[in-house]
Amino acid sequence: MSTITLTIDGQQVEVEQGSTILDAAKKLEIDIPTLCYHPDLSLFGSCRVCVVENAKTGDLLASCVAPVADGMEIKSHSTKVRRARRTNVELLLANHPNECLTCERSGTCELQGLTEKLGINEIRFEGEQTKHPIDEFGPSIKRDPNKCILCGRCVRTCEEIQGVSALDFTQRGFDSVVTTAFDLPQAEINCANCGQCVTVCPVGALTEVSEVDKVWQALEDENQHVVVQTAPSIQAT
Ligand code: FES
Repeated sequence: MSTITLTIDGQQVEVEQGSTILDAAKKLEIDIPTLCYHPDLSLFGSCRVCVVENAKTGDLLASCVAPVADGMEIKSHSTKVRRARRTNVELLLANHPNECLTCERSGTCELQGLTEKLGINEIRFEGEQTKHPIDEFGPSIKRDPNKCILCGRCVRTCEEIQGVSALDFTQRGFDSVVTTAFDLPQAEINCANCGQCVTVCPVGALTEVSEVDKVWQALEDENQHVVVQTAPSIQAT
């Protein structure tokens, strides 16, 4: 296979034709942050956290999907790049619940990690936030679409690795959401409950149903049962 030579941050690297800029940066051990990218999945390029600058044109490129070209010169940490990454993460945070203290993914959340890494301590953007129902009564998976950053890692995992396609994108623009077919509850869909989507979710949008959740679930069921049973006696008095 033919190879391509390019330069990243002044360091020359040779990679196979068809590689991405991110592949080349990895070869040089240059750290470029990513969110929607996952090494086991197809390329997606939605979050734009991995942007780098083409030093010749000044264009910003999503390094996880942009293919290398011969003689390319890339800046991975220029001021322009760092500003763009920060803005992109801030925009994600602007439509993300501020619940880190109670979120199960706190401490392992990739968005939280990036926020810290990029030194973001305020969100400059304010606006409407999406409000979707939370599905917490699945047999093993809880879905909170309000925390979803639309990276599509769960969708690609379910389709490309599990071959199930239990989750997919629906709606457009601001209303875009990852959900089940016909928006059915997790408990009613053709899901293998393998948990692969939970593993790849970078935030707290998909989490495992815990033992505590199961207790609440049982109490909820019990309450419903009590209501049905007590209704006739209430009418009788
Ligand atoms: Fe490259 Fe999301 S990691 S666009």
